Amino acid sequence: MKIEEVIEEAVRLVIPTDEEKKRAKEVEVDLSRRMTEILKDYENLRFEFLGSYARDTWLKGSLEFDVFILFPEEYPPEELEKRGLEIGKAALDKYELRYAAHPYVHGWVKEAEVDIVPCYALKSTAKIQSAVDRTPFHHYWLIDRIKGKQTDVRLLKKFLKSSSLYGAEYSVRGFSGYLCELLIIFFGSFRETVMKCRNLTRNTVIDVNSGEFTKKKGLDNILVIDPVDEKRNVAANLSLDKLAEFVEKCRNFVESPSIDFFHEKEKPEVSKELLEQEIKDRNTGLYVIEFEKPDIVKDNLYPQLERACKKITEHLSRNKLMPLRSGYFAGKMCYLVFETEVKEISAIERRSGPVFEDYENVKKFVTKRREYVPFIEGGRYYVYARRKCNKTENILKDFIRKEGKYLGKNIGEKLTNFTLLKNAEILELDDEFNKYLVEFLTLSRR
Ligand code: UTP
Ligand code: MN
Ligand code: MN
Ligand code: MN
Repeated sequence: MKIEEVIEEAVRLVIPTDEEKKRAKEVEVDLSRRMTEILKDYENLRFEFLGSYARDTWLKGSLEFDVFILFPEEYPPEELEKRGLEIGKAALDKYELRYAAHPYVHGWVKEAEVDIVPCYALKSTAKIQSAVDRTPFHHYWLIDRIKGKQTDVRLLKKFLKSSSLYGAEYSVRGFSGYLCELLIIFFGSFRETVMKCRNLTRNTVIDVNSGEFTKKKGLDNILVIDPVDEKRNVAANLSLDKLAEFVEKCRNFVESPSIDFFHEKEKPEVSKELLEQEIKDRNTGLYVIEFEKPDIVKDNLYPQLERACKKITEHLSRNKLMPLRSGYFAGKMCYLVFETEVKEISAIERRSGPVFEDYENVKKFVTKRREYVPFIEGGRYYVYARRKCNKTENILKDFIRKEGKYLGKNIGEKLTNFTLLKNAEILELDDEFNKYLVEFLTLSRR
């Protein structure tokens, strides 16, 4: 199929139906009425619809309203927070609290999702205090420039979403809605965006204001300069690996265009028996640390899980256990997963001492009472020593018992009580985990 034909077909997947639009309009009217009514009791406050709904760039099946309450500059931050929550709660049928720069209300009006976010109404971007204060400026900058390109924005969002590349939250670390809109404006269309993005590199600089596409030495990830605030990188939350996945997807799409690029890829189903056989065959050390999930939001949980994973992997490396890969998964419980080339290491290890010229330290090194006699190699002293633990699982357990509480503010508390499972034992965890495991082990369909 030709790329134009595929895009034409994809359009039907991304534009909301008339029914959806009608429904959305009803909610908008209702929500508007409620906000107007509530704000009568407050002086100097107004509200605006911002985000993708206000620009008609929302994706079919993903309706969500972003209502911003604009506060005068001189409002104290604590007051803004308090009033913001109060108003949000009053406007919604059901709600829960969420956290960005400050807490805001997420909820529902007639089954439609709504974010009600307080921010400051500023005259210039120079006064921006938090990320949400930038949002009105984003909207004003985009509103005319995006006209006529909404379908292209939606195509890009869907293209990304179907590969879990859409969303700037920490659990995704992909492309935000705003970034999608800027890319479409910069490149002109969805087609041009995928064509050009095949050549993105980690040191690409995209200056939306000047229209310049350049490379800058020393960058370690793409820089998209915010047209309303040149100090800000719009792609700051995009991880290098998600950038790489996007580039790969653009290349594959252009090479052999197909509608499949707009649908979520089916994950290979692998039976328990096959997984068990695979675990046996690969003969690695496969370990899962299972512990209770702390009651915190994803944006707070995921960085902690990632950091814990990194710390433990470093420990495995230090102990020469040759970690292959590690990962984490949060379902009903939290799981840290490690695979190593080494399951059990020798009882003794080699420790290095001083070079022979260093008389003072040599003296200390050789006079220490030890089980083994030091030896010289390449002009340096070495000695064998017995390890405390030899099995990877015990080294892991030992480390988490001692260091677990320091592995993250909230998960640290939970890690005081963990279960270590290894090899086939991990197949007894739930189906959700097994799906993650298939991905972790990088199994193809079989
Ligand atoms: P959204 O995440 O709702 O993005 O944030 P969007 O552009 O509307 O795209 P979709 O279609 O819903 O996915 C809207 C704006 O609100 C601000 C951001 O600046 C964003 O541009 N925002 C929202 C935050 O800063 N923090 C939040 O937690 C939520
Ligand atoms: Mn939105
Ligand atoms: Mn959203
Ligand atoms: Mn939102």
